[in-house]
Amino acid sequence: MTDVQDIEAILAITNADPNEVLHAVPGDAGALFTWDYAKGARPQLEKLYEKAKTSQWNGSTDLDWSIDVDPERTAVELGARDGRMKYVRAIMNEKGSPVAHWGEKEFNEYAIENLAHRASQFLHGEQGALLCTARIVETVPWIDAKYYASTQVMDEARHVEVFARYLDEKLETRYPMNAHLGALIDDILSDSRWDITYLGMQIMVEGLALAAFGTMYRTTNEPLLKQLLRYVMSDEARHVAFGVLSLQEAYADINGAELRERQEFVFEAAVRMRDRFLHQEVWERLGVEPRKIVPYFVRQQSEEEVMFQQALFAKIVPNCKKLGLLDGRDGWLRDRFTELGVIHYEDHIDTSVEYTELDALSARTL
Ligand SMILES: [Fe+2]
Ligand SMILES: [Fe+2]
Repeated sequence: MTDVQDIEAILAITNADPNEVLHAVPGDAGALFTWDYAKGARPQLEKLYEKAKTSQWNGSTDLDWSIDVDPERTAVELGARDGRMKYVRAIMNEKGSPVAHWGEKEFNEYAIENLAHRASQFLHGEQGALLCTARIVETVPWIDAKYYASTQVMDEARHVEVFARYLDEKLETRYPMNAHLGALIDDILSDSRWDITYLGMQIMVEGLALAAFGTMYRTTNEPLLKQLLRYVMSDEARHVAFGVLSLQEAYADINGAELRERQEFVFEAAVRMRDRFLHQEVWERLGVEPRKIVPYFVRQQSEEEVMFQQALFAKIVPNCKKLGLLDGRDGWLRDRFTELGVIHYEDHIDTSVEYTELDALSARTL
């Protein structure tokens, strides 16, 4: 197995062409008709589908785009409660660190770039979700899942639309897709097995996104961003639930080599998502050599008090447990998650339960 702490290997994954306009992912997933139209054969999926039909919102008219956003104020305010920003401040005070010469001005610039980078990855991840759920409509064999996935395609289109607009009109800057996240989504899309589209997108990427949206939602006071995230989160919770409910059935009897393949896929996806948080392109834009600063963040990952990054796995670990991936094959994945320092999330609330609560939250406050 490769060394997951190998900094050179992590930094070697970069955007081949940051100016590309289109990105093709070859694949050979086939489309699948079903002649079994019995709606409600899978009652939980049907319930999600019915719920989704009445939970549609309009990004153009339900959000107040007239709100004036000050990117610096928004970024600094978010940064004041952000673990990564606190850590950057700590390294600013560390003698000989690459940011030891930074003052408030540089720190605030970093805050703005950090926000733009986070929002940009949300945007590109949302487009990944749009493509993956369109794929699921084609490949999943059950009519209730095809129905539900079609509503998710529309949800994801809306998410892409609102994040793109927020970046273009309010933050006025954008980052390309992070190469680690991009490689993960390429892997998901190029795999022809329909359960892998679910596992990669619905469980891993969306599980992480749901946690990341939640963190930003709780820590921002910028009214438009808060409103936008609340709408998006009420959809995302449903999406992860869709993944858990579908894969529970698909994985009910899985074992042996097939199970191990899924465990390895989950672990590799987790490492890629962790590596994307090293933000190498942000450091490049600020003129700090990634090779010098990234080791500080890798070192930090193994320190116990650091929770901001691990917290992003709060949804993924319990959902993997529920699918039987954590403990199957002698607990291989349990051991890997233990090494990554995220196993303590195993009994956090899983999203198939949580979505009704998030939904209730949105019903009260939207
Ligand atoms: Fe989404
Ligand atoms: Fe989603």
